[in-house]
Amino acid sequence: MSVGPQLFEDIDGVRAYVRKCQAAGESVGIVPTMGALHEGHLSLVRASTAATTRTVVTIFVNPTQFSPDEDLASYPRTLEADLNALSGLAVDAVFHPGPEEMYPDGDALIHVVPSVLDKNLCGLVRPGHFRGVCTVVAKLFNIIPADQAFFGRKDAQQAAILKRMANDLNFPIRINICPIVREADGLAMSSRNKYLNSDERMQAVALSRALAKGKQVIADGEQSSASVIKVMRDCLAEFVLVQPEYVSIVDFDTFVDAETIGPSCLAALAAQVGPARLIDNMQVNGVTGECEM
Ligand code: PAJ
Repeated sequence: MSVGPQLFEDIDGVRAYVRKCQAAGESVGIVPTMGALHEGHLSLVRASTAATTRTVVTIFVNPTQFSPDEDLASYPRTLEADLNALSGLAVDAVFHPGPEEMYPDGDALIHVVPSVLDKNLCGLVRPGHFRGVCTVVAKLFNIIPADQAFFGRKDAQQAAILKRMANDLNFPIRINICPIVREADGLAMSSRNKYLNSDERMQAVALSRALAKGKQVIADGEQSSASVIKVMRDCLAEFVLVQPEYVSIVDFDTFVDAETIGPSCLAALAAQVGPARLIDNMQVNGVTGECEM
């Protein structure tokens, strides 16, 4: 009979557990999530269980990374199903704190604020979002002093910012960035896909299709980002339920707009599909890395 992960709701309990594991010579991996787990999350868990001897998954819908007009209240909270999904995966512990455990004063009074990498894409259209992400992940790294952490390339800008944060603030933790897991039709898995009705779900394929078209015209020799972006926007326009928010080509290292297609370009887009704001990205030139260990 498989034993499920140990559930912690308090900071002291999970920290003591992790310290005890490390004192016994174990290496600990952390997989931060907001729950409503899907195969994308589970791929990070598998990367962690393969690379470390103990894996802690955190499930916390972090209020400080949502702006007041966003979906904090309706964000899916499915703890029981999440624990079931993790039960066959050799996860040792789940940390599932309430907001009052994480933010006893309502919010942190000291924040971690990126000064680079957040001026474009989601950082531009969601002011304060990455401040909330960095602050909660820094807190999680301090609560769970893991040896390695696992993030998805699905949120490429988030992953790059967190990697930079760990480096710049000297967190003794190795950041791994893992590939995007997609549905059979190409839609990137996301907890927010749950918001889609069947028509919206069918049209949500527009995002990955637009990225693939962009990648194709680049492979065919197109060098101008503006032209590639036009191809991607034209593709999105064929889907009436899809309202693009941004469609960009950026340098993979800086997240600054790239005027011409260079060796390390990322095409990234965000769109509203019915009630769901969805994002996706694709490396459109150069070699796509697997899990960056
Ligand atoms: P959440 O959206 O739950 O995602 C948790 C992790 O799963 C992130 O690293 C994300 O990039 C990864 N992920 C999501 N969908 C994926 C997919 N289709 N393929 C591969 N990886 C995928 O991102 C957050 O939560 C939060 O911002 C968090 C980092 C937990 C801080 O609150």
